[in-house]
Amino acid sequence: MTELGLPERVRTAPKCELHVHIEGTLEPELAFALAQRNAVVLPYDSVATLRAAYAFDSLQSFLDIYYACTAVLCCEADFHDLMLAYLQRAAADGVVYAEIFFDPQVHAARGVPMGTVIAGLQAGLREGRTRYGIEGALILCFLRHLSAEDAMETLLQAKPYLGALAGFGLDSGERGNPPGKFADVFAACRALGLPVVAHAGEEGPAEYVQEALDTLSVARIDHGVRAIDDPALVRRLAANQIALTVCPLSNQRLQVTPDLRDHPLPALLAAGVPVTLNSDDPAYFGGYLNANLAAVHEAFAWSDSQWETVLGNAFQASFRNETWKAHWLHTLSLHFADDQIET
Ligand code: HPA
Ligand code: ZN
Repeated sequence: MTELGLPERVRTAPKCELHVHIEGTLEPELAFALAQRNAVVLPYDSVATLRAAYAFDSLQSFLDIYYACTAVLCCEADFHDLMLAYLQRAAADGVVYAEIFFDPQVHAARGVPMGTVIAGLQAGLREGRTRYGIEGALILCFLRHLSAEDAMETLLQAKPYLGALAGFGLDSGERGNPPGKFADVFAACRALGLPVVAHAGEEGPAEYVQEALDTLSVARIDHGVRAIDDPALVRRLAANQIALTVCPLSNQRLQVTPDLRDHPLPALLAAGVPVTLNSDDPAYFGGYLNANLAAVHEAFAWSDSQWETVLGNAFQASFRNETWKAHWLHTLSLHFADDQIET
Protein backbone atom coordinates (compact mmCIF):
# COMPACT_ATOMS: atom_id res chain seq x y z
CA MET A 1 0.00 0.00 0.00
CA THR A 2 1.16 3.55 -0.68
CA GLU A 3 0.68 6.61 1.49
CA LEU A 4 -2.52 7.21 -0.45
CA GLY A 5 -3.84 3.78 0.57
CA LEU A 6 -3.66 2.71 -3.07
CA PRO A 7 -2.17 -0.73 -3.82
CA GLU A 8 1.34 -0.40 -5.28
CA ARG A 9 0.28 -2.30 -8.40
CA VAL A 10 -2.45 0.28 -9.13
CA ARG A 11 -0.29 3.27 -8.20
CA THR A 12 2.45 2.25 -10.61
CA ALA A 13 0.24 0.96 -13.46
CA PRO A 14 0.40 2.76 -16.81
CA LYS A 15 -2.66 4.98 -17.19
CA CYS A 16 -4.65 6.98 -19.68
CA GLU A 17 -6.60 10.08 -18.62
CA LEU A 18 -9.56 11.19 -20.75
CA HIS A 19 -11.24 13.92 -18.70
CA VAL A 20 -9.09 16.75 -17.43
CA HIS A 21 -9.57 20.49 -18.07
CA ILE A 22 -6.21 22.21 -18.41
CA GLU A 23 -7.65 25.34 -16.74
CA GLY A 24 -8.67 23.09 -13.83
CA THR A 25 -5.04 22.12 -13.23
CA LEU A 26 -4.12 25.71 -12.28
CA GLU A 27 -2.74 25.35 -8.76
CA PRO A 28 -3.13 28.43 -6.50
CA GLU A 29 0.66 28.88 -6.31
CA LEU A 30 0.96 29.02 -10.11
CA ALA A 31 -2.11 31.30 -10.30
CA PHE A 32 -0.40 33.85 -8.02
CA ALA A 33 2.94 33.53 -9.85
CA LEU A 34 1.24 34.18 -13.21
CA ALA A 35 -0.83 37.02 -11.72
CA GLN A 36 2.40 38.71 -10.70
CA ARG A 37 4.10 38.05 -14.04
CA ASN A 38 1.14 39.54 -15.94
CA ALA A 39 0.23 42.29 -13.45
CA VAL A 40 -3.25 40.83 -13.01
CA VAL A 41 -5.05 41.23 -9.68
CA LEU A 42 -6.86 38.11 -8.44
CA PRO A 43 -9.94 38.66 -6.23
CA TYR A 44 -8.13 36.77 -3.40
CA ASP A 45 -5.23 38.14 -1.34
CA SER A 46 -3.25 34.92 -0.86
CA VAL A 47 -2.88 31.27 -1.80
CA ALA A 48 -4.51 30.38 1.53
CA THR A 49 -7.61 32.57 0.95
CA LEU A 50 -7.98 31.20 -2.55
CA ARG A 51 -7.73 27.60 -1.33
CA ALA A 52 -10.19 28.38 1.45
CA ALA A 53 -12.72 29.43 -1.21
CA TYR A 54 -12.73 25.87 -2.61
CA ALA A 55 -15.80 24.84 -0.62
CA PHE A 56 -18.26 24.16 -3.41
CA ASP A 57 -21.96 23.42 -3.09
CA SER A 58 -22.71 23.04 -6.81
CA LEU A 59 -21.09 22.99 -10.26
CA GLN A 60 -21.79 26.72 -10.67
CA SER A 61 -20.12 27.65 -7.38
CA PHE A 62 -16.97 25.95 -8.71
CA LEU A 63 -17.22 27.42 -12.22
CA ASP A 64 -17.37 30.98 -10.81
CA ILE A 65 -13.92 30.57 -9.19
CA TYR A 66 -12.51 28.48 -12.05
CA TYR A 67 -13.39 31.17 -14.60
CA ALA A 68 -12.15 33.99 -12.32
CA CYS A 69 -8.71 32.34 -11.98
CA THR A 70 -8.27 31.99 -15.76
CA ALA A 71 -7.68 35.79 -15.78
CA VAL A 72 -3.99 35.08 -15.10
CA LEU A 73 -3.59 33.13 -18.38
CA CYS A 74 -2.56 35.82 -20.84
CA CYS A 75 0.23 34.74 -23.17
CA GLU A 76 1.72 31.66 -24.80
CA ALA A 77 4.22 31.10 -21.97
CA ASP A 78 1.38 30.92 -19.41
CA PHE A 79 -0.37 28.12 -21.29
CA HIS A 80 2.96 26.35 -21.76
CA ASP A 81 3.75 26.53 -18.03
CA LEU A 82 0.24 25.36 -17.10
CA MET A 83 0.46 22.36 -19.43
CA LEU A 84 3.95 21.39 -18.32
CA ALA A 85 2.96 21.50 -14.63
CA TYR A 86 -0.01 19.20 -15.32
CA LEU A 87 2.07 16.74 -17.36
CA GLN A 88 4.69 16.49 -14.62
CA ARG A 89 2.04 15.59 -12.03
CA ALA A 90 0.16 13.23 -14.35
CA ALA A 91 3.36 11.39 -15.33
CA ALA A 92 4.19 10.96 -11.62
CA ASP A 93 0.84 9.12 -11.30
CA GLY A 94 1.69 6.75 -14.16
CA VAL A 95 -0.27 8.58 -16.87
CA VAL A 96 1.31 7.81 -20.25
CA TYR A 97 -1.32 9.56 -22.37
CA ALA A 98 -3.97 12.22 -21.69
CA GLU A 99 -6.72 13.79 -23.80
CA ILE A 100 -6.92 17.30 -22.37
CA PHE A 101 -9.80 19.78 -22.57
CA PHE A 102 -9.34 23.50 -23.02
CA ASP A 103 -11.95 26.30 -23.03
CA PRO A 104 -10.94 28.84 -25.73
CA GLN A 105 -14.10 30.96 -25.31
CA VAL A 106 -13.06 31.83 -21.75
CA HIS A 107 -9.76 33.18 -23.07
CA ALA A 108 -11.25 34.88 -26.16
CA ALA A 109 -13.52 36.86 -23.81
CA ARG A 110 -10.33 38.39 -22.31
CA GLY A 111 -8.83 39.07 -25.74
CA VAL A 112 -6.51 36.02 -25.84
CA PRO A 113 -6.73 34.57 -29.35
CA MET A 114 -7.18 30.89 -30.19
CA GLY A 115 -3.72 30.75 -31.81
CA THR A 116 -1.99 31.92 -28.60
CA VAL A 117 -3.80 29.36 -26.44
CA ILE A 118 -3.11 26.44 -28.80
CA ALA A 119 0.53 27.40 -29.47
CA GLY A 120 1.25 27.59 -25.72
CA LEU A 121 -0.51 24.30 -24.95
CA GLN A 122 1.28 22.55 -27.82
CA ALA A 123 4.67 23.85 -26.68
CA GLY A 124 3.90 22.46 -23.22
CA LEU A 125 2.91 19.11 -24.74
CA ARG A 126 6.19 18.92 -26.68
CA GLU A 127 8.26 19.71 -23.62
CA GLY A 128 6.27 17.28 -21.45
CA ARG A 129 6.93 14.49 -23.94
CA THR A 130 10.68 15.18 -23.87
CA ARG A 131 10.98 15.72 -20.13
CA TYR A 132 8.51 13.20 -18.69
CA GLY A 133 7.81 10.78 -21.56
CA ILE A 134 4.07 11.51 -21.44
CA GLU A 135 1.91 12.08 -24.53
CA GLY A 136 -1.08 14.40 -24.73
CA ALA A 137 -3.74 15.54 -27.17
CA LEU A 138 -6.11 18.52 -27.07
CA ILE A 139 -9.92 18.54 -27.09
CA LEU A 140 -11.53 21.92 -27.72
CA CYS A 141 -14.56 22.41 -25.45
CA PHE A 142 -17.48 24.71 -26.24
CA LEU A 143 -19.14 26.46 -23.30
CA ARG A 144 -22.77 25.37 -23.12
CA HIS A 145 -23.94 28.44 -21.17
CA LEU A 146 -23.08 30.54 -24.26
CA SER A 147 -25.06 30.46 -27.51
CA ALA A 148 -24.76 27.97 -30.37
CA GLU A 149 -23.79 30.96 -32.58
CA ASP A 150 -20.87 31.73 -30.29
CA ALA A 151 -19.80 28.07 -30.47
CA MET A 152 -20.05 28.11 -34.28
CA GLU A 153 -17.89 31.28 -34.40
CA THR A 154 -15.35 29.53 -32.13
CA LEU A 155 -15.30 26.55 -34.50
CA LEU A 156 -14.52 28.94 -37.38
CA GLN A 157 -11.60 30.38 -35.39
CA ALA A 158 -10.33 26.84 -34.72
CA LYS A 159 -10.25 25.82 -38.39
CA PRO A 160 -6.60 26.86 -38.97
CA TYR A 161 -5.57 24.66 -36.02
CA LEU A 162 -7.51 21.45 -36.70
CA GLY A 163 -4.27 19.47 -36.93
CA ALA A 164 -3.63 20.29 -33.26
CA LEU A 165 -6.96 18.85 -32.11
CA ALA A 166 -8.03 15.29 -31.20
CA GLY A 167 -11.71 16.22 -30.93
CA PHE A 168 -14.39 18.59 -29.63
CA GLY A 169 -16.28 18.65 -26.34
CA LEU A 170 -19.01 20.49 -24.43
CA ASP A 171 -18.67 21.74 -20.85
CA SER A 172 -19.75 24.42 -18.32
CA GLY A 173 -23.13 24.82 -16.56
CA GLU A 174 -25.30 21.85 -17.51
CA ARG A 175 -28.71 22.70 -16.05
CA GLY A 176 -30.91 24.48 -18.59
CA ASN A 177 -28.35 23.95 -21.38
CA PRO A 178 -29.35 20.63 -22.99
CA PRO A 179 -27.01 19.00 -25.53
CA GLY A 180 -29.51 19.47 -28.38
CA LYS A 181 -28.75 23.23 -28.34
CA PHE A 182 -25.45 22.34 -30.04
CA ALA A 183 -26.68 19.77 -32.60
CA ASP A 184 -25.67 21.91 -35.62
CA VAL A 185 -22.27 22.84 -34.18
CA PHE A 186 -21.48 19.21 -33.40
CA ALA A 187 -22.63 18.12 -36.87
CA ALA A 188 -20.14 20.66 -38.28
CA CYS A 189 -17.40 19.29 -36.01
CA ARG A 190 -18.07 15.71 -37.10
CA ALA A 191 -18.08 16.80 -40.74
CA LEU A 192 -14.46 17.90 -40.20
CA GLY A 193 -13.65 14.27 -39.38
CA LEU A 194 -13.00 14.71 -35.66
CA PRO A 195 -14.70 12.78 -32.83
CA VAL A 196 -16.94 14.57 -30.33
CA VAL A 197 -17.67 14.15 -26.61
CA ALA A 198 -19.95 16.02 -24.20
CA HIS A 199 -20.39 16.51 -20.48
CA ALA A 200 -23.83 15.13 -19.63
CA GLY A 201 -25.54 13.64 -16.60
CA GLU A 202 -23.23 15.32 -14.08
CA GLU A 203 -25.77 17.68 -12.49
CA GLY A 204 -28.19 17.29 -15.37
CA PRO A 205 -30.60 14.36 -15.73
CA ALA A 206 -30.20 10.99 -17.47
CA GLU A 207 -32.21 12.44 -20.38
CA TYR A 208 -29.25 14.72 -21.21
CA VAL A 209 -27.03 11.65 -21.60
CA GLN A 210 -29.59 10.15 -23.97
CA GLU A 211 -29.88 13.47 -25.82
CA ALA A 212 -26.09 13.77 -26.20
CA LEU A 213 -26.06 10.34 -27.85
CA ASP A 214 -29.08 11.03 -30.06
CA THR A 215 -28.45 14.64 -31.15
CA LEU A 216 -24.65 15.01 -30.94
CA SER A 217 -23.47 11.45 -31.80
CA VAL A 218 -20.83 11.61 -29.09
CA ALA A 219 -18.18 8.88 -28.87
CA ARG A 220 -17.98 9.13 -25.05
CA ILE A 221 -19.93 10.82 -22.27
CA ASP A 222 -18.07 12.98 -19.74
CA HIS A 223 -19.35 12.18 -16.22
CA GLY A 224 -22.64 10.50 -17.21
CA VAL A 225 -23.22 9.26 -13.67
CA ARG A 226 -26.94 10.18 -13.66
CA ALA A 227 -27.42 7.56 -16.41
CA ILE A 228 -27.89 5.20 -13.47
CA ASP A 229 -31.45 6.59 -13.08
CA ASP A 230 -32.51 5.06 -16.42
CA PRO A 231 -31.98 1.28 -16.69
CA ALA A 232 -32.68 1.26 -20.44
CA LEU A 233 -30.00 3.90 -20.94
CA VAL A 234 -27.51 1.89 -18.88
CA ARG A 235 -28.24 -1.11 -21.12
CA ARG A 236 -27.68 1.07 -24.19
CA LEU A 237 -24.30 2.35 -22.90
CA ALA A 238 -23.21 -1.23 -22.19
CA ALA A 239 -24.51 -2.65 -25.49
CA ASN A 240 -22.79 0.06 -27.55
CA GLN A 241 -19.71 0.16 -25.29
CA ILE A 242 -19.99 3.92 -24.81
CA ALA A 243 -17.46 4.95 -22.20
CA LEU A 244 -18.21 7.27 -19.29
CA THR A 245 -15.32 9.45 -18.12
CA VAL A 246 -16.15 9.44 -14.41
CA CYS A 247 -14.44 11.89 -12.02
CA PRO A 248 -14.89 10.67 -8.42
CA LEU A 249 -13.33 13.54 -6.43
CA SER A 250 -15.14 16.06 -8.66
CA ASN A 251 -18.46 14.31 -7.97
CA GLN A 252 -17.68 14.37 -4.27
CA ARG A 253 -16.55 18.02 -4.08
CA LEU A 254 -19.42 19.32 -6.24
CA GLN A 255 -21.94 17.45 -4.07
CA VAL A 256 -23.08 15.19 -6.92
CA THR A 257 -22.20 12.23 -4.67
CA PRO A 258 -21.02 13.65 -1.32
CA ASP A 259 -20.27 10.15 0.00
CA LEU A 260 -18.34 8.09 -2.55
CA ARG A 261 -19.72 4.89 -1.07
CA ASP A 262 -23.05 5.95 -2.67
CA HIS A 263 -21.43 6.45 -6.09
CA PRO A 264 -23.01 4.53 -9.01
CA LEU A 265 -19.57 3.35 -10.23
CA PRO A 266 -19.94 -0.28 -9.02
CA ALA A 267 -23.46 -0.57 -10.48
CA LEU A 268 -22.34 0.86 -13.82
CA LEU A 269 -19.34 -1.47 -13.90
CA ALA A 270 -21.48 -4.49 -13.01
CA ALA A 271 -23.88 -3.56 -15.83
CA GLY A 272 -20.99 -3.69 -18.33
CA VAL A 273 -20.68 0.06 -18.95
CA PRO A 274 -17.05 0.92 -19.80
CA VAL A 275 -16.36 3.35 -16.98
CA THR A 276 -13.03 5.19 -16.79
CA LEU A 277 -11.59 7.23 -13.90
CA ASN A 278 -10.32 10.78 -14.30
CA SER A 279 -9.37 13.91 -12.36
CA ASP A 280 -11.52 16.65 -14.07
CA ASP A 281 -10.15 19.78 -12.32
CA PRO A 282 -7.49 18.33 -10.03
CA ALA A 283 -6.20 21.65 -8.62
CA TYR A 284 -9.70 22.34 -7.27
CA PHE A 285 -11.00 18.91 -6.26
CA GLY A 286 -8.27 17.49 -4.08
CA GLY A 287 -5.91 15.65 -6.36
CA TYR A 288 -4.68 14.16 -9.59
CA LEU A 289 -5.45 10.75 -11.06
CA ASN A 290 -3.98 8.55 -8.32
CA ALA A 291 -5.79 10.56 -5.63
CA ASN A 292 -9.03 9.77 -7.47
CA LEU A 293 -8.13 6.08 -7.67
CA ALA A 294 -7.27 6.09 -3.96
CA ALA A 295 -10.66 7.59 -3.08
CA VAL A 296 -12.37 4.88 -5.14
CA HIS A 297 -10.23 2.18 -3.54
CA GLU A 298 -11.14 3.43 -0.09
CA ALA A 299 -14.83 3.31 -0.97
CA PHE A 300 -14.94 -0.01 -2.86
CA ALA A 301 -11.68 -1.95 -2.31
CA TRP A 302 -11.66 -3.21 -5.89
CA SER A 303 -9.74 -6.36 -6.80
CA ASP A 304 -6.70 -6.23 -9.10
CA SER A 305 -8.82 -7.65 -11.88
CA GLN A 306 -11.43 -4.88 -11.46
CA TRP A 307 -8.62 -2.29 -11.53
CA GLU A 308 -7.16 -3.80 -14.66
CA THR A 309 -10.58 -3.60 -16.33
CA VAL A 310 -11.17 0.03 -15.38
CA LEU A 311 -7.66 1.21 -16.29
CA GLY A 312 -7.90 -0.74 -19.56
CA ASN A 313 -11.23 0.90 -20.40
CA ALA A 314 -9.51 4.28 -20.68
CA PHE A 315 -6.94 3.07 -23.22
CA GLN A 316 -9.74 1.39 -25.16
CA ALA A 317 -11.95 4.53 -25.11
CA SER A 318 -9.16 6.89 -26.21
CA PHE A 319 -9.00 8.46 -29.67
CA ARG A 320 -5.75 6.64 -30.54
CA ASN A 321 -5.48 3.89 -33.15
CA GLU A 322 -6.01 0.16 -32.55
CA THR A 323 -2.28 -0.72 -32.67
CA TRP A 324 -1.56 1.81 -29.93
CA LYS A 325 -4.47 0.54 -27.83
CA ALA A 326 -3.35 -3.09 -28.21
CA HIS A 327 0.19 -2.12 -27.14
CA TRP A 328 -0.96 -0.45 -23.93
CA LEU A 329 -3.58 -3.08 -23.06
CA HIS A 330 -0.86 -5.71 -23.38
CA THR A 331 1.56 -3.64 -21.27
CA LEU A 332 -1.17 -3.22 -18.66
CA SER A 333 -1.86 -6.97 -18.56
CA LEU A 334 1.88 -7.67 -18.08
CA HIS A 335 1.94 -5.14 -15.25
CA PHE A 336 -0.96 -6.86 -13.48
CA ALA A 337 0.64 -10.29 -14.00
CA ASP A 338 4.06 -9.19 -12.66
CA ASP A 339 4.65 -11.08 -9.40
CA GLN A 340 7.64 -8.87 -8.56
CA ILE A 341 5.28 -6.06 -7.59
CA GLU A 342 4.41 -5.97 -3.93
CA THR A 343 0.65 -6.14 -3.24
N1 HPA B 1 -18.41 20.23 -15.57
C1 HPA B 1 -18.73 21.16 -16.47
N2 HPA B 1 -17.87 22.07 -16.90
C2 HPA B 1 -16.63 22.05 -16.43
C3 HPA B 1 -16.24 21.12 -15.50
C4 HPA B 1 -17.17 20.15 -15.06
O1 HPA B 1 -16.91 19.25 -14.24
N3 HPA B 1 -14.95 21.37 -15.23
C5 HPA B 1 -14.57 22.43 -15.99
N4 HPA B 1 -15.61 22.85 -16.73
ZN1 ZN C 1 -15.23 18.11 -16.73
